[in-house]
Amino acid sequence: MKTDTSILFLSAWLIFYFSGELYGFSAQKTVLKTKYGHNKVKYATHLVALWIKALYHRPFHNIYAYGKDNQVAYCPEGLKIYIWGDGNVVEIDPSVRSFQGRIEIGEAQSPANHCTVKIGADSSAGGVLISLREDNSTITIGKNCMFSWDIHIWNTDFHAIYSEETKQCLNIGKDITIGDHVWLGVSVNVLKNTAIAANSIVGAGAVVSKKFTEPNVIIAGIPAKIVKRGINWSTDTPTNYLKQRTLR
Ligand SMILES: CC(C)(COP(=O)(O)OP(=O)(O)OC[C@H]1O[C@@H](n2cnc3c(N)ncnc32)[C@H](O)[C@@H]1OP(=O)(O)O)[C@@H](O)C(=O)NCCC(=O)NCCS
Repeated sequence: MKTDTSILFLSAWLIFYFSGELYGFSAQKTVLKTKYGHNKVKYATHLVALWIKALYHRPFHNIYAYGKDNQVAYCPEGLKIYIWGDGNVVEIDPSVRSFQGRIEIGEAQSPANHCTVKIGADSSAGGVLISLREDNSTITIGKNCMFSWDIHIWNTDFHAIYSEETKQCLNIGKDITIGDHVWLGVSVNVLKNTAIAANSIVGAGAVVSKKFTEPNVIIAGIPAKIVKRGINWSTDTPTNYLKQRTLR
């Protein structure tokens, strides 16, 4: 009887442990193995909490951190996070379910330090590449944003442009701020030192190269300019939106 209980207990523990492994716990361990410093994955402090999170949200798969003191708070399915550098923070709201793409901070040859990426509640993306290469730079994405596919959000030009006369760097990249409830159409490029205010739409193929602080606008073109003001948008198709309106 005593042996039966022990076997039962051992089997339960093994199932608990290895199902956690299968559902992402192993990925969290991989992060810790691949680093050469002390990266921290938030939510990973308690084994049971980690296992439950891993089982339901799989938050730690596809995170690769090379450096020290990097923090990643949640990684939704479909997103890969690569960090080369120290003291970087990626903070994604745990309500974010579908965010396809890749976040890259630094690269093997040129690490970036103390960068921050924030993605707000309920935002989604079909395919986006978010890149940071400059120290102390930030990309902030608000709540309820909807990004299409083939989107690039880069707060860097990757390569320096300098004055021939003074040798000063002319293209230092800093921050990008995308407000709440912003819709980026297909193949949009959002470049360094830009902003898009809340409830706005960026038309297909646009290149955003400056700060747009007015909310509720459509911006489009290369370089992007305001083409409509006083708008808002819904995730419904136009047909369904009209149906809903007539039902009210
Ligand atoms: C941005 C968009 C939503 C605006 O639609 P709309 O409100 O019906 O806009 P309009 O067609 O009235 O266009 C307004 C003006 O902006 C211009 N414009 C619209 N979209 C543009 C674009 N992507 N690039 C350049 N100019 C554009 C129009 O030519 C028009 O210019 P005009 O006033 O000089 O004639 C739409 O044009 C668009 O880009 N749709 C693609 C959305 C998408 O990528 N969906 C993927 C799934 S998430």
